[in-house]
Amino acid sequence: MTQQLQKTINRLFADTVERMDEGADVVQTISEIFASIDLTWSPANPDPLPAWDYRHAVVENAPAGNLSAVAQAVDADWQTVNWHRNPNYINDESLGRFRNWYGYNLYVGSFGMVKNLEIAVGMILISPDCLYPPHNHLAAEIYVPISGRAEWWSAESDWQIQEPGTPIYHRPWLSHGTRTLDEPLLALFGWLGDTSQHATINRDL
Ligand SMILES: [Fe+2]
Repeated sequence: MTQQLQKTINRLFADTVERMDEGADVVQTISEIFASIDLTWSPANPDPLPAWDYRHAVVENAPAGNLSAVAQAVDADWQTVNWHRNPNYINDESLGRFRNWYGYNLYVGSFGMVKNLEIAVGMILISPDCLYPPHNHLAAEIYVPISGRAEWWSAESDWQIQEPGTPIYHRPWLSHGTRTLDEPLLALFGWLGDTSQHATINRDL
């Protein structure tokens, strides 16, 4: 990880804690662990994902300031990290366009570029016009959109557009979903808790 990427993510976590009520303690803990880890890794050679078509758009669309700095730092390290799709989703055709047109990297985590079992930190990229249906997981989660206005839902709040920089907190097992509009979404995510368990779609909703 470049120093710039670590620096901009640390700053974003600090800004995010300031903006939160519920979940601020979770983000503070993720932030402290993240800042304490030696974030050096051997560069990967990832296979491109379809969603990479939007790599330049997410960097160009990021608001000026720290979010743009994060996006540029993500871009600089784009091909030194592995990109993934949830194995629970890859063969699920009911997910439609989302199934093939999203991806995430994992800077830190149980199968991250840096192995860690306490937290997961990475970036999710979702192409325009995709629905990530309601799903949940054991770990507590913070999202901070870096680029792209998208709609976010949880079992406790209706679909609503969230601007880049807005913290979106999900406590363990809270069902939540994301829908992109005409822009691609790049968002920082952090997990705290048992990060080895993948998210699963909530079929009953
Ligand atoms: Fe989640």
